Amino acid sequence: MSSTLPIGIFDSGIGGLTVASAIHHLLPKEELIYFGDTAHLPYGDKSAEAIKYFSLKIGKFLLDKQCKLIVIACNTASSLAYQDLVDFLGDRIPVINVIDPVVDYMVNHGNHRKIGVIGTKATIKTDVYAKKIKALSPELEVKSLPTPLLAPMIEEGFFSNTISKTVINSYLSSPKLKNIDSLILACTHYPLIKSEIEAYYQNKVEIINTAEIVAQYVKKRLTELDLLHLDQPKRHQFYVSDYTPSFEKSTKLFFGEKIHLKLKNIWS
Ligand code: DGL
Repeated sequence: MSSTLPIGIFDSGIGGLTVASAIHHLLPKEELIYFGDTAHLPYGDKSAEAIKYFSLKIGKFLLDKQCKLIVIACNTASSLAYQDLVDFLGDRIPVINVIDPVVDYMVNHGNHRKIGVIGTKATIKTDVYAKKIKALSPELEVKSLPTPLLAPMIEEGFFSNTISKTVINSYLSSPKLKNIDSLILACTHYPLIKSEIEAYYQNKVEIINTAEIVAQYVKKRLTELDLLHLDQPKRHQFYVSDYTPSFEKSTKLFFGEKIHLKLKNIWS
């Protein structure tokens, strides 16, 4: 496999652009091909079967685009479809999810004792973070809370205002999250409200920025595989399964710069 090939990244929508942005900043020479499944957004309320089906179709699309590595930039798809994607792609392309690098970080860095996790209903229902963290460090306590209003709220541009403050306060004051020392943002939309969450905890709780941890992990894997791209990059490509001007407008919030979305039907 050639190091000049692109990195494939996908999400249920445009939230995964936070992960794409972190990879773009850490590895500016890499070409990215992003697929946002905006036609089926949100994944957080869908069945496991639907999420697996969509993820495998997107995996095939990125395989056909000759990606050298696939990043599942969605916690919900990482929770429910990672193993299916690994089985499907076999040893043709390495697949990275957004959960394992964060679990590794929580277990091996810092001094965490009671960890909170917030994410979509589907992610929290799998209890995947608690299972994986406790398998490695049984003494750690992990408390998970579904926060389904946060992703649509952010997507509608409601953050850093009184509405987002009220919703965030209402979720984070749950007794489940009492006395946590760290909080995993287990949804790719949440980096956009990280500062509001930090303010809620008055900086006394470590807020885990999963996008940056995943970007570091992508760099490590590409280095191990001798697949880091060292020359001038080609232009990134951004595909969506349903296009609206509102999606395109929101991309700047998530990616940090204006990008052009291309409509792509991969279902027929
Ligand atoms: N991107 C999804 C995640 O990280 C959140 C949005 C959705 O429900 O599709 O879990």
